[in-house]
Amino acid sequence: MLAIDGPGGSGKSTIAKKVAERLGILYIDTGAMYRALALAAHEANVPFTSPQEIQEFLTNLKMQYGVSPAELIVIDGKNLTQRIREHHVSKLASEFSQILIVRNHLVDFQRKLGLQTFCVMEGRDIGTVVFPDAFCKIFLTASLEIRARRRLEELKQKGQNNFTLEQVLSDVQERDRQDMQRKESPLKQAGDAILLDTSSYTIEQVQDKIIEVAKKKASEHGLRL
Ligand code: DC
Repeated sequence: MLAIDGPGGSGKSTIAKKVAERLGILYIDTGAMYRALALAAHEANVPFTSPQEIQEFLTNLKMQYGVSPAELIVIDGKNLTQRIREHHVSKLASEFSQILIVRNHLVDFQRKLGLQTFCVMEGRDIGTVVFPDAFCKIFLTASLEIRARRRLEELKQKGQNNFTLEQVLSDVQERDRQDMQRKESPLKQAGDAILLDTSSYTIEQVQDKIIEVAKKKASEHGLRL
């Protein structure tokens, strides 16, 4: 397990996906799972304040991850892969991911998935909670402004043009606050994770660095990568 954690907009998803591709191993995006569950719960009118209704919702749903890139995340037969990237879903996911039963449900799902195969798993708590024994842990970060600019660019590319930098910056800041200050598994760097600031490096440079670190760690652990 190669664990990659960090705040939104640090470049995690793009980098983790490319690293997995280059190493020829599976890429698992845990943020997509929080996004999909939050969207499905919201659309099913499940109140985020009712643990009982959330539990019932979680017990009865069927989530499929990674059937294919076009069907990355499917809940009860509905392909949510595109819709989870809409701007409003970020806020829903940030709220839904604060709830302990939601986290327990997904951590369990992620552990089962991660134990099946050698992979790159990306999120907020992979190195601290989901796989604390991961052979290699990376914590990616970048300055707030750079992360907001990247997020704005991402939204533009998806045709969502009606946002200003100020709006996105304030949303990113609010999400950081929620992710870092939440009671359950807050976003933090694992003691044994390697910190990489992506602000002043290209995606390729960061990928190269992660691959170099991962190969070194793998050989220390007697693993072939
Ligand atoms: O990485 P992302 O922006 O797609 O994540 C969406 C939300 O899910 C984010 O607000 C934090 C939450 N999340 C989490 O709490 N734990 C994870 N392992 C992954 C994401």
